[in-house]
Amino acid sequence: MDIRPSDRVDAIGSYAFADVDNIVADLKTQGIEPIDFGVGDPTLQTPAHIRKACAMGIEKRKSSGYPSYIGEPEYREKVAWWSKRRFGIDLDPETEVMSTIGSKEAIFNFPEAFINPGDYALALNPGYPAWSRGTHFAEGKTYFLNLLPENHFLPDLASVPADVVKRSKILWINYPNNPTTAFPTKTFYREVLEFCERHNIIVASDESYTENYYDTRPLSILELKKEGVIVFQSLSKRSNMTCYRVGWAAGDQRIISGFKKVKPNIDSGTATFIQDAAIAALDDETHVEKLREDYRAKRDIMVDAFTAIGAPNCEPEGTIYIWQRVPEEYSSVDFAKTLLQKEVAVVTTPGSWLSREAHGVNPGEGFIRLALVPALEKVHEAARRIKRLTI
Ligand SMILES: Cc1ncc(COP(=O)(O)O)c(C=O)c1O
Repeated sequence: MDIRPSDRVDAIGSYAFADVDNIVADLKTQGIEPIDFGVGDPTLQTPAHIRKACAMGIEKRKSSGYPSYIGEPEYREKVAWWSKRRFGIDLDPETEVMSTIGSKEAIFNFPEAFINPGDYALALNPGYPAWSRGTHFAEGKTYFLNLLPENHFLPDLASVPADVVKRSKILWINYPNNPTTAFPTKTFYREVLEFCERHNIIVASDESYTENYYDTRPLSILELKKEGVIVFQSLSKRSNMTCYRVGWAAGDQRIISGFKKVKPNIDSGTATFIQDAAIAALDDETHVEKLREDYRAKRDIMVDAFTAIGAPNCEPEGTIYIWQRVPEEYSSVDFAKTLLQKEVAVVTTPGSWLSREAHGVNPGEGFIRLALVPALEKVHEAARRIKRLTI
């Protein structure tokens, strides 16, 4: 029997982190324990009160059956309450909010609701793979918008060719941005909203990192406008809940209602006891503040280590990453490899792996990304080892 993958699956490359995993595994076979800043997966515990709410939810819902496709009313109400408190925005929990199984699933599946074969989505490059992969699986095409330091890592919307704009249905944006750590501004969001309204394009704003900031609280685009906008939120990074798989989509009820038609065909909703945990997470800001302080300490240690060896200061304002510009004579991969040599054994992700060549450049070239996820002692150790490097 000849078993072949579909053309769609065949067309996608390997997931970048599979390559990182291989390098880490290789170091381990040499008896070296690398300090892993590769994947953005927090290693600290999920706060105890959230875990407890989950455990209690399992008991409370011992005969609850399938969850609601769009989330339990109390979860959607809590999301609306939190959104009002955090961003000052009004959301109708009935029509403008739905639960998701983390933002990844929702981002991947969303294009099914609005993309016809041959339609375009516009997406940031570098960027989260699910924006373009979801479009690919919906038989659409992605036009990549390069994020360059000279544009403060904001896309140049005016550079999109008119024929692509005409066939575009979705613009994916993501600020605070993974991996560049760039922040949104009101001016930028106004420009996005004006562009998308003029060209009838849905704004899909991946806001997974709005709670990971150091000093200035980032905006949600919903603070400026709801019409034509959908926002994807997540508790993964806010509350160390990556393993829970919970988030939500919110915005224009016409867009939400389109997405609601897709989701029941794919899954059966977010587990109810996970929603109980998410409610407990949203009810509390203290743990979020503590996590912020932990990231701040790690950021400061690593920024200091890189500047000490003469690399540029790339101190981020938020996210859980550092988008470190590599020293001049290095490529992204060369510098990541230098950090991987036995004496240092620090795993980072070359920026060129997180982006693709588009319009003649790979905008991630010249950078490495560090996810500030190892425990604080390990971050100190990584900094000590980096400081011994001569570059
Ligand atoms: C920009 C961005 N969007 C979405 C996600 C998915 O997060 P989750 O599915 O855990 O909510 C991530 C995860 O790293 C991300 O970096």
